[in-house]
Amino acid sequence: MSLNKETIIKRKSIRSYDFEPLSTDMLDKIKNIISEIKPLYNELSHFEIVSKKEYFQITQGPFRVSAPYYLACYSLSEPQALVNLGYLVELIVLKLTDLDLGTVILGTNSKAKYNDLDFQVGIAFGTPKEEFRKDIKDAKRRNLNEIFKGDVLDIAPFINVAPSALNLQPILFEVNKNEIDVYRIRKLNLMKALDLIQYLDVGIAISHFNLVNFKIEDRKKTNEKNKTYITTIILEI
Ligand SMILES: Cc1cc2nc3c(=O)[nH]c(=O)nc-3n(C[C@H](O)[C@H](O)[C@H](O)COP(=O)(O)O)c2cc1C
Repeated sequence: MSLNKETIIKRKSIRSYDFEPLSTDMLDKIKNIISEIKPLYNELSHFEIVSKKEYFQITQGPFRVSAPYYLACYSLSEPQALVNLGYLVELIVLKLTDLDLGTVILGTNSKAKYNDLDFQVGIAFGTPKEEFRKDIKDAKRRNLNEIFKGDVLDIAPFINVAPSALNLQPILFEVNKNEIDVYRIRKLNLMKALDLIQYLDVGIAISHFNLVNFKIEDRKKTNEKNKTYITTIILEI
């Protein structure tokens, strides 16, 4: 799936929504996006559109945003499945942004299940009552040289602006010409659930590489403390 820079700049977390129901046509478009999206890995995931009432029944926690609709996102609670889910979640978010819908990804406590898959995150969405982002400089992010090491990538600012839980950006890209080793850097001393969520953050950032053509190759690398190898992205130039 190809992405464009305008959509990536435009997307920001929207926390204020109009509660007018979306048209059937719009809801059908959203269902099509979900059914057509291609995963990064051959891992199971499941997405379900739910109302605010249903969402507040299956989730807990103080950081839930009030929105007319939510997408409940399920996968196994394992690193590769979560990287894959994060990748899909962000591609859906960007496609919804293209439809002028506001979104915010919500990490929350939930014991909800879909078959063997666990509830991981929600995406609140609907007609936004806030403006989209106009300038990439308005996004507060870590410096590029903290996230990218090695050769300079033109698209780096558009990868760096990817959303992450608590805006922690627990990611490192080591760039060697057209090959990029991707690592998860453990941030804070997180509890297990939050710790796993950071694999979603890595998948979210990888999805932004759809600005160009790429494939991934999983190589053997030794992990260091707080630095876990995820995959190698190979840019097809
Ligand atoms: C996995 C994940 C979980 C998140 N959980 C919440 C949340 O519970 N509540 C919330 O208001 N924002 C949540 N966010 C949104 C982030 O705070 C936001 O993406 C980040 O601060 C960057 O801001 P931006 O999305 O406007 O660019 C979450 C984002 C991600 C990727």
